Amino acid sequence: MSNKVYVTREIPKIGLDILSKYFEVEVNKKDRPLTKDELISKIKGKDAVLTQLTDQIDKEVIEKANTVKIFANYAVGYNNIDIEFAKKRDIIVTNTPEVLSDTTAELAWALLFAVSRRVVEGDNYVRKGKWKQFSPKLLLGQDINNKTLGIIGAGRIGKAFAKKSIGYDMEILYHNRSRDMEFEKVYNAKWVDMDTLLNRSDFISLHVPLTDATYHLIGKKELNNMKDTAILINTSRGAVIDEEALVKALENEVIWGAGLDVFENEPVVHNKLLDMDNVVLLPHIGSASTETRDKMAKIAAKNIVQVLKGKDPISQVK
Ligand code: DGY
Repeated sequence: MSNKVYVTREIPKIGLDILSKYFEVEVNKKDRPLTKDELISKIKGKDAVLTQLTDQIDKEVIEKANTVKIFANYAVGYNNIDIEFAKKRDIIVTNTPEVLSDTTAELAWALLFAVSRRVVEGDNYVRKGKWKQFSPKLLLGQDINNKTLGIIGAGRIGKAFAKKSIGYDMEILYHNRSRDMEFEKVYNAKWVDMDTLLNRSDFISLHVPLTDATYHLIGKKELNNMKDTAILINTSRGAVIDEEALVKALENEVIWGAGLDVFENEPVVHNKLLDMDNVVLLPHIGSASTETRDKMAKIAAKNIVQVLKGKDPISQVK
């Protein structure tokens, strides 16, 4: 009898084809994540589950997943899974690192460009028929060239983001738990403490995972420490920023603007953010390119194949 795999949302065909070659595969065809009860009932009797960041794989779910050998998360982030508890139950957890680093870094840059040059405001202005003539002071933004870029979290995505600044003659500051001498040498990046990064950077981009240590890493104090011309970009996880504090900082012009792909209570967005012109808001699409999503589907599927065949997974979260 073949192993049973549950896929909690429809993923690119390439991943489903790999799984279907070996296993009996069931896919949630609904255009929404499953509720916790639905999830628990669907994964009953399954050998593997391909999960999304919207699936909360907490103690209760893990306890009831007594036939599951692997949760293959379709994301690099895995804050939706209780890793320690899964370990205790000998369930393997995998993620999809590397393949989405450039794609996510590109989106961080898209947000940086959009906020600094007021791209979305300009587009709305044209579409709404407000553009009557060229105006010398219309929609003045900020240059990117020669400015200081502050990167918080210099893992794969943070480094890919830094790499893409080449051509803009920027000074690169970064803050990370540990220093990376190779990164410093190659990108002329300078490790600084958090306060220095916050008060010297023109653009600050967040690339840390969400953990107890990074929850609300950016709050009122940190925002007050930034330049009033600063632009904050977040493509990591929403709860890394205290969203309420950010709203106040934007309202009071403590900082200049923000580009956000992630939010504290997705898909709910703070209603005040929805009314602000100095923010650009995206629906968590950091890794959403066709090529990258195909690669993620392949890795997640291959992780399941490996584990159900008794081999080591490609990218286990340890
Ligand atoms: C990730 O991989 O963690 C992204 O946030 C999902 O695209």
